[in-house]
Amino acid sequence: MLTISAIKADVGSIGGHTRPSIQMMDVARERLQQAFEDGLVTGFDVTHTGDDLCLLMVHRLGEAAPEIHNLAWEVFEAATDVARAQGLYGAGQDLLKDAPSGNVRGAGPGAAEIAFDETASERPAEPFLVFTADKCGPGAFNFPLWAVFTSPMYCAGLLLPKMKAGFRFTIIDMEHAGGDRVIELETPERHLDLAILLRDENRFGIQAIHSRKYPHQKVVAVSTDRLHTIAGEYKGKDDPVAIVRSQGIFPAPEEIVSPYMVAHYVAGDARGSHHMPIMPVAINTPVAGAYCLPLVACMAYSVTKEGVLSEGVDMFGNVAWDATRLKAQRKAEDIRQQGFVGPAMLPIQELEYSAFRHSLESLEAEFELRETVASPNGQGQN
Ligand code: 13P
Ligand code: MG
Ligand code: MG
Repeated sequence: MLTISAIKADVGSIGGHTRPSIQMMDVARERLQQAFEDGLVTGFDVTHTGDDLCLLMVHRLGEAAPEIHNLAWEVFEAATDVARAQGLYGAGQDLLKDAPSGNVRGAGPGAAEIAFDETASERPAEPFLVFTADKCGPGAFNFPLWAVFTSPMYCAGLLLPKMKAGFRFTIIDMEHAGGDRVIELETPERHLDLAILLRDENRFGIQAIHSRKYPHQKVVAVSTDRLHTIAGEYKGKDDPVAIVRSQGIFPAPEEIVSPYMVAHYVAGDARGSHHMPIMPVAINTPVAGAYCLPLVACMAYSVTKEGVLSEGVDMFGNVAWDATRLKAQRKAEDIRQQGFVGPAMLPIQELEYSAFRHSLESLEAEFELRETVASPNGQGQN
């Protein structure tokens, strides 16, 4: 078995929530190079999307391996030390516990992992994509993954014999603290039930997708932890990472990226409290847009049966996405024109986790209940 692990965290950034420093990236790369020389990982990459560092590791230890999760935690701690020394903002922001017990899940960082049999005859080669998003939650992947894996409008490949049998979605209730509360739904039959859940990106997220024709083949993994569910209050956005295997028995990269042309509105942005469109950007792009426009990057890789990782191809760092970027910016300007009003900001249940709730609490205390007296014509009158 080979395992691809993508573990992502915000442990400090320059001048606000923009990007980690070059020195932080260098330290992360040095640590993973050491793990590579020690034989713990067979391949790795270090990227950032906005202010989040993403550690991509290929290894033979399976999903949720304590050695790999501890390694990721140590790398984030080393990068945090650099961020502190450099006086950066939010140093150690996503390290919510003193030390995780062999698994970063529930401790702050987001993890997406897929273990697979590299000798399976239905996968003669292993191409895959890593999506990293900043200033949004795991639900940002709901629409694009639903579209690709259920709708031939976005993925004509679903009509092919290898995919016609459909996929099994594992959906997690991200508001549930303590244990994973999940439901498994098979498409195409249950794509509407899936839509009923996935429309609520704040509560329900796609944790995994498996092939139905090859049930042991996991095609998608998404980090679905929500920091507020762990911490009970707003600690920065959850800024998810997803791995999507591609080609052959799975959708092709060009199909998988196609829904991002929509630049759909997602929850997140400034103070994690607004709705803004998500902009596909080149890898290692800082967040500099008004109100922290959410960003998503996508890297394509190949890995050999020995676990040797190729260099990455920057899927959104291409002129083909310039028109989408402009569209996202225009959509952002449109919704920003209505400031805090209505759908521009998140629903109150979401703001309950943020400091906005304290402002509301003090106003609640000022409300008074006025007695209603019955009028002669039967209608209430003050
Ligand atoms: P991050 O979660 O990316 O740190 O962003 C937090 C925020 O509130 C930006 O306004
Ligand atoms: Mg940050
Ligand atoms: Mg971030």
